[in-house]
Amino acid sequence: MTKTIHTVADIRAELDALPLGLRVALVPTMGALHDGHLALVRAAREQADVVVVSIFVNPTQFGPTEDFDRYPRTLDSDVAALSTAGVDVVFSPSVDEVYSPDQPVTAISAGPVGDEWEGADRPGHFDAVATVVGRLFDIVRPDVAVFGEKDWQQLAVIREASVARPVPVRIEAVPTVREPDGLARSSRNRMLTETERATAVAIPKAFRAIARRGASPEVVAAARVHLEHSGVTVRYLETVDPTTLVVTHEPGPARLLFAGTVGGVRLLDNWAVDIPDER
Ligand code: PAJ
Repeated sequence: MTKTIHTVADIRAELDALPLGLRVALVPTMGALHDGHLALVRAAREQADVVVVSIFVNPTQFGPTEDFDRYPRTLDSDVAALSTAGVDVVFSPSVDEVYSPDQPVTAISAGPVGDEWEGADRPGHFDAVATVVGRLFDIVRPDVAVFGEKDWQQLAVIREASVARPVPVRIEAVPTVREPDGLARSSRNRMLTETERATAVAIPKAFRAIARRGASPEVVAAARVHLEHSGVTVRYLETVDPTTLVVTHEPGPARLLFAGTVGGVRLLDNWAVDIPDER
């Protein structure tokens, strides 16, 4: 039976009543759930005895011109999907429960790994993500927390912030779940028109072409031009060190990081690549 809980007091009471020694996994989400989120839930099931999924559209991580109000909210169908997936607790708090007016939340800085890429385009975004995840960790006190590789930089930020906690939370990463044509599943995909959705397939196609040819700077630059011609406005497309997220052209394994817009909808994705040795 899945329980839906809305307050900090109730979720603490629920979790404190568990027999000692049960492992608790947390899957933080903003709802509008799709197969990507459900893959995280399956991974959580394998890691723990009790699975908690939080659904909280965190206002502080949206910039003033971003889509907080437009962000899809589908709590009933989310709870139904999580119940089918065998989730024990859905935690869906109000903004006041998370950011209680009489108990200030500890602000967490994302550190250097949060500075570039999404961090540069969205000032304060990763500090807000690290802070809300820290708050959720404080509330749920999980043994393990599960995140998607889809948001590679977010994962890197959370890994660093978790290590810095007095009691580190183990972070489990799940590979990106994709549509049959390769586009990464995302709650934002439903904001695309049919034509824009058809345009967006150029993104995974470009990744595959780069991976096939080897991610040299020339190949990546050519793919960028091709994407722009296909109707994707590229914000960044770079090979980076998978952990530090610093740009690299050193031969060997790297992560290809991408952000761009199609019809004004911002899409993020990333791919494992090898940089060829051309010396
Ligand atoms: P949200 O965008 O709802 O994503 C919740 C989790 O699902 C994240 O860990 C994200 O990486 C993962 N995810 C999304 N799409 C995925 C896909 N196609 N394949 C695999 N995993 C996928 O990320 C957030 O919410 C928020 O920033 C949050 C961490 C909850 C803090 O507010």
